[in-house]
Amino acid sequence: MSQDAIDPSRRAWVGIACGAGAIGGVAVAVPFVSSFAPSERAKAAGAAVEVDVSTLKPGEMATVEWRGKPVWILKRTPEQVESLKKTDSKVADPESKRKPDELTPEYARNQYRSRKPELLVAVGICSHLGCSPTAKLQGGAQPGLPEDWQGGFFCPCHGSMFDLAGRVFKNVPAPDNLEIPPYVFLSDSKLLIGEDKKA
Ligand code: FES
Repeated sequence: MSQDAIDPSRRAWVGIACGAGAIGGVAVAVPFVSSFAPSERAKAAGAAVEVDVSTLKPGEMATVEWRGKPVWILKRTPEQVESLKKTDSKVADPESKRKPDELTPEYARNQYRSRKPELLVAVGICSHLGCSPTAKLQGGAQPGLPEDWQGGFFCPCHGSMFDLAGRVFKNVPAPDNLEIPPYVFLSDSKLLIGEDKKA
């Protein structure tokens, strides 16, 4: 299924993480530096990546590569969208006001940090020292996370936490929210990552 979600001509690297936890965690836990072999990717540096998101089910996350970075595409469930209200008071920059030009395009300067509430598109690199955080999409108490965890991302390198909109929690080493890359919907099912406007 994962390969079907991606335009093969882009040679995008893809992984699917399920909302249920462990598998998803492993899929994105690999430190970003060792996640990708160079070769093909160097050639593709800078190119926008087209992604078919029609096969992504609520609660599932795909990872594609753009400019050598992992980009997460998470189809949030209505509950996950709702959870962002609860994390509003726990995150350090709820309205994405810090470094907006670098981290959050104008169309994502909202509570969801996205063009559509249900679809998160974010660069999966921690704003502390560049590890790739682990998806901990399942809410609820679990080791190393707050008891009222609503689902989000955990960086194992130094313990930073992000909510399901990639907003960094207060009092963790990471200073900023995860970067939202430029992207645009070419259609209801097709996403172009790396460009803001349709050609
Ligand atoms: S690199 Fe993520 S917490 Fe340090």
